[in-house]
Amino acid sequence: MERRAFLAAAAATPAGLVSARAAQYDGLPDDVGAALARFRNSIPSNFDRDYVEHAVVPFFLTSIYEGERPALPMIDVTLSKENALPFDLWGLIYKGWQPTPEEGVTVFLQGLEERGDNNLRKRIYFSAVTPDLYRPMYQAKVVAFFDRLLDPQYAEKPFMRHYLDYYFDLYWDLHLGVKGDAIPSGVRQIGESFNTVLAFRNPLQPIVYENYMKVRALLDPLKQWIDQKVKDVANGRVPNPEKTFAWYWLKNAGNGEHFSNKDIVFECFHNFVALSQWGNTIFGIMSRLSKDSGDPEVRGSFTKTMSGDYDHATGSPYTPLELIVMELFRTISPNGGSISAVEDARRSAYGESPFAALGSRFERHAYIATPHTSTSFDPRHWSNPQQFDPDRYNHVPTSAQIDEAKCQQIGFARCPFDITTFNVADGRKAGLTNSGFGTVFGVADGKPLPVCDYAGFAPFGFGYRRCPGEQLTIQVFEDFLRKVWNDKIEFVNLHLPNPRKVPIGPNAVIVDDIGFTRRLLQLWLLDISDARGRYGRDVKRYLKHSFAVDRHHADHGLLGSHSGALGDRSLSPPERKLRRL
Ligand code: HEM
Repeated sequence: MERRAFLAAAAATPAGLVSARAAQYDGLPDDVGAALARFRNSIPSNFDRDYVEHAVVPFFLTSIYEGERPALPMIDVTLSKENALPFDLWGLIYKGWQPTPEEGVTVFLQGLEERGDNNLRKRIYFSAVTPDLYRPMYQAKVVAFFDRLLDPQYAEKPFMRHYLDYYFDLYWDLHLGVKGDAIPSGVRQIGESFNTVLAFRNPLQPIVYENYMKVRALLDPLKQWIDQKVKDVANGRVPNPEKTFAWYWLKNAGNGEHFSNKDIVFECFHNFVALSQWGNTIFGIMSRLSKDSGDPEVRGSFTKTMSGDYDHATGSPYTPLELIVMELFRTISPNGGSISAVEDARRSAYGESPFAALGSRFERHAYIATPHTSTSFDPRHWSNPQQFDPDRYNHVPTSAQIDEAKCQQIGFARCPFDITTFNVADGRKAGLTNSGFGTVFGVADGKPLPVCDYAGFAPFGFGYRRCPGEQLTIQVFEDFLRKVWNDKIEFVNLHLPNPRKVPIGPNAVIVDDIGFTRRLLQLWLLDISDARGRYGRDVKRYLKHSFAVDRHHADHGLLGSHSGALGDRSLSPPERKLRRL
């Protein structure tokens, strides 16, 4: 009997019968039967049978092995992306609980050999998120999102639950140009449930079961809704359709062989997995910048960066703001590893595998995770891996520098990946090219827009399968940090008596006990009473005092500058009142 079916049978058998039944299975020692009985008892009796068979059982037959830390930023194609998804999760994206490509696929789960010539599918995907698009197309949506999120009325409230309440507005606005009341409640619900499953993960937990089943119930209506909205984008029935990802996928899909309309629908919701990582990241950044429990080195580096000309790169491929965001990603590493599907080697130097030798019919699901965090901290790559040092990326190659000559210099006979360019068909003078390591990146108006192509920078993965959303993500977090700096925002521990546990991203359930304050308000209160005592209504002398306090804060690595607030147009009503004092 196939092992999965056996486990499932055990799971579906009334508890008292399990040991007796287990004894019937040839060659299974008693302790296996007993273990199965214990396993069966641990499955709540209300769980749907299909869920048990397709989610619970595969979960326990899955192993994820830790792979090697790459010396170069590449993963060999023998560690495949084809269907590289822990088996118990297929039911979240296909009603049949297993890969069903005819219903649409995502590049995330495709082996290189399935993607068309030279990783074509990836290049079409990437065409929607190249850095040249951010400012004209997406930035206003992101900035409005952060303005709303960090509005003074939400100060000193648990931040992550609040973030999740608005996150899907940004998500659907970026993908399809839909937000607010135009997003049906079921569409919000399925996103929330999807994230909850990914965050809690263990399928035996009732919260995972309930949310998994909600996702399945809402999957077909979600696909229909997306399909309709993609048509609206195609027909210009949404305002500014060129400000959505779907628009670029539609324009650049060619004959659709490698990016069909079903694939567009699929990518739109599979991105639940991708964008949910913004939650982990934002929490990681808040924790490090927190006034009470943050990292002084990170706080100091932030103040230093923001006190300078942070948006201008001088002789570097990256601006100072970009550099600090990259270093935050290296150190936070919100995504722990690139996962690949591997097959059992039926023969090896050690002989046949049990599957071949004993003719076993059951298969386990095995995956290898090429680690990000330990690779980013590998002393082979950096002399100071533990230090928070945004400048480090100025001394290692970009993807635009890894050409034929560089590959040969490293010792390759030729580039591991041919360097080719896919020109977009959406009206821009832009293309998607790649480095000799296979890393895809944009070129706009003849200017390369490269990424750091070095194994020591691992948070977005490696080579041909590296994250196409990397630069968009970095640009989003640049805007987050601009907002924090310009509005003098401080993150603080709230010390709530019973903080909630909130699912914020894959494998991440956090205690929601960090909030923000607008530092301006606190400082002015303290400072104004102090200054009034000293200077009365002498505004000139007060301002002098204020600038001196700013200098003091900058020297001591404190956030913000309160004299700058005089030009701040986003003051809250209480702040404006204070200003009038
Ligand atoms: C904090 C944010 C993010 C992190 C840490 C992250 C990380 C990663 C990593 C590590 C990979 C490689 C996985 C592997 O090789 O197994 C990846 C792939 C991918 N990411 Fe992201 N990602 C983020 C955001 C995004 C966003 C915003 C998008 C889309 C707009 C996106 C779309 C994708 C896609 C489509 C792939 C598959 C690429 C391929 O296989 O060629 N990601 N991401």
